[in-house]
Amino acid sequence: MNLINKNYINEYLKMLNTFPHDKEMEQIIKYAKDNDIPILRPETASLLNIIVQAKKPETALEIGTSIGFSGLVILRAMNEDGRLVSVDMDETSLEIARENFRLQGFAERITLINNDAGEVLHNLTDSFDLIFIDGPKAQYINYLSYCIKLLNKGGILICDDVLFYGMVADNKLVNRRKITIVKRLRKFLKIISSHPQLDTSIIPIGDGLSISIRK
Ligand SMILES: C[S@@+](CC[C@H](N)C(=O)[O-])C[C@H]1O[C@@H](n2cnc3c(N)ncnc32)[C@H](O)[C@@H]1O
Repeated sequence: MNLINKNYINEYLKMLNTFPHDKEMEQIIKYAKDNDIPILRPETASLLNIIVQAKKPETALEIGTSIGFSGLVILRAMNEDGRLVSVDMDETSLEIARENFRLQGFAERITLINNDAGEVLHNLTDSFDLIFIDGPKAQYINYLSYCIKLLNKGGILICDDVLFYGMVADNKLVNRRKITIVKRLRKFLKIISSHPQLDTSIIPIGDGLSISIRK
């Protein structure tokens, strides 16, 4: 289900979108599909690839590793010495991710942390040029102040699923069981849209992507 763009736009973009181009990534996408594991949509992955290539971060942090798909998009787009720290509380997914990073030659450039992201963010002291959040949506608002603190000036904060099937933008679409997530995402978007330390753009791509620059 995607209620963010009209179907004909989604279908057209899907037809055009050829990212990623290789067998290794196609295999991960197939594994995710066969096992019902949610990973970045191709159009969002393609935009993430462009942003990382344009920014050239030396250090990046990811919340929500899953099986490593988005982390691989980031690592492939970084310069050769770029390093990624990626956090997920699900041990089984992380083991699959570890193998995927190893198979694509990134074992030396990835640090995987198996813990709750809130706790990790609270304890991290490193600074990052890019932070990508694709974890528990209801927690984005709690993660924000930590992310701003951990981001270098000019650093980029990217958050996926911020429009959450369009529910965030229109009450008529809201599934009652998801109302808490929707309310928290709305609050999160309101804050990042007018935060004095951030410039933010919210893009209706995939499930909605917010991109903020730390001033
Ligand atoms: C949508 S998936 C991430 C997909 C991944 N970014 C990709 O595109 O390849 C969300 C991930 O967040 C993880 N997660 C959920 N709550 C978490 C938490 N509190 N701390 C750390 N990870 C969490 C889940 O285990 C899941 O793997």
